[in-house]
Amino acid sequence: MRKSFIAGNWKLNKKVSEAVEVSKAIKEGVINLSGADICICPTFTVLKSVYEIIKDSNIALGAQNIWYENQGAYTGEIGASSLLDVGCKYVIIGHSERRKYLNESDETIAHKTLSSLESGLIPIVCIGETLEERESGKAQKIIETQFSGACKNLPADKFSKVVIAYEPVWAIGTGKTATPEIAEEMHKFIRQLIKNRYNKELADNCRILYGGSVTPANIENLMKEPDIDGALVGGASLVPESFIELVKKSQNKQTQ
Ligand code: PGA
Repeated sequence: MRKSFIAGNWKLNKKVSEAVEVSKAIKEGVINLSGADICICPTFTVLKSVYEIIKDSNIALGAQNIWYENQGAYTGEIGASSLLDVGCKYVIIGHSERRKYLNESDETIAHKTLSSLESGLIPIVCIGETLEERESGKAQKIIETQFSGACKNLPADKFSKVVIAYEPVWAIGTGKTATPEIAEEMHKFIRQLIKNRYNKELADNCRILYGGSVTPANIENLMKEPDIDGALVGGASLVPESFIELVKKSQNKQTQ
């Protein structure tokens, strides 16, 4: 049984006072909603302040990135122990914006995924093809490479904690959501990759989120698809009303 999961990726938005205000409003709006797991992922500098607001609530805290060592001479980086120290439970890894602007490779993403799992953080591993890759018929090949890259050296017992986010790059921040059919086709493909690499049980239990221009207007149709277990939401997660609506509309999905 896979529980619905809505994660908000705030990206590079919100200073402390705004983050506190928004997390208070979200907390109030989702207080009685138990049919979905909820997570918000703000910037590093506001993690602690947001945690103080949500710590006794049904909202978990996530970071948007991690370094794969816990401490040492890595100027500008933040490791798992620091994230756990400020209350994080989840961490987004391999977001396409980091792949693009920070040149994150599958190799780095594999290290980060393993390191977060070894430290007790749950990674939300992002994979997704660009428009060019889709149009040239390479979408599945890219997903396969990114998936096996991220899971390199990851034994089954570790993989059992992983959350995957399928985020087609052409749908992120563009208003062009993948149709539920396209998203489902890719989610089903990813589940098959998990089955091939690990086993059917892990494939059936893994939560696969869709990401890319998710809004309260399209979440219901996406959630109707059997292999879509929730969403990683950027823009619409910044506004409490729409984030709360997304949680309401995605909860209590019956799987398997
Ligand atoms: P978006 O971003 O919802 O603004 O398209 C999603 C993401 O990048 O995780």
